[in-house]
Amino acid sequence: MEAGELMSKQIVAIDGPAGSGKSSVSKQLARDFDFGYLDTGAAYRALAWLVLEGFDKAQLETGDFETSFDYQVSTDPDNFWVKVGNQDVTEAIRSSEVSEAVSSVAQVSAVRSFMKRKTHEIAGSCTKPGIVIEGRDITTVVYPEAQSRILLTASEEVRLARRSKELSEVKNIHAQVTKRDASDSKVVNFTEAAPGVTLVDSTNLDFAQTVAVMADHVKTDLKAAQND
Ligand code: DC
Repeated sequence: MEAGELMSKQIVAIDGPAGSGKSSVSKQLARDFDFGYLDTGAAYRALAWLVLEGFDKAQLETGDFETSFDYQVSTDPDNFWVKVGNQDVTEAIRSSEVSEAVSSVAQVSAVRSFMKRKTHEIAGSCTKPGIVIEGRDITTVVYPEAQSRILLTASEEVRLARRSKELSEVKNIHAQVTKRDASDSKVVNFTEAAPGVTLVDSTNLDFAQTVAVMADHVKTDLKAAQND
């Protein structure tokens, strides 16, 4: 896709910590607006999965992983899959081993700059008029120029309760989530909204209410961007 074409695509950037609900909310927004959906955490998880499969971690620092990491991801909110080469890793990347390993992979700066390029490439090839992209640094680093930028948070208590429901078999969820957030926040700030980024706190909102509040912000932002 040409740069000019990408500029006209509507980008909805959503950041937030683990358990903020951003994946389910982002998918729902994508459906409501008939946009594509991109989970950028899945790419970090897929790379961490590759490392756990035996890929030499030292090659991450040098950027030598790029040719070995054949990453593909769906941008359809209703048919989500992730592939590395011809292997479907949609389920595998959600394992607790991958969750444990992913932060250290995400801290490598060559990995972060690759992920930024990859996100632009995937968003550029999405055929929908817009795309909802969720992660930790989308509003600040990957798409600071996005038409709509939202940071979705919730209190730690509520986030942990939501995560525990999602991953009922994982013990020690509290330690895992707080450790990962602390580790991730060394390289990206996803706890405070950057200038121009709307903060939505979903602590006292249920799923439908959160989607409604976010959709209102997105509508207002996209309208304002059109009038610019
Ligand atoms: O959203 P998630 O839990 O699937 O993300 C997995 C990891 O990837 C998370 O520990 C932080 C990292 N990540 C990141 O650093 N930047 C992003 N844009 C998305 C995810």
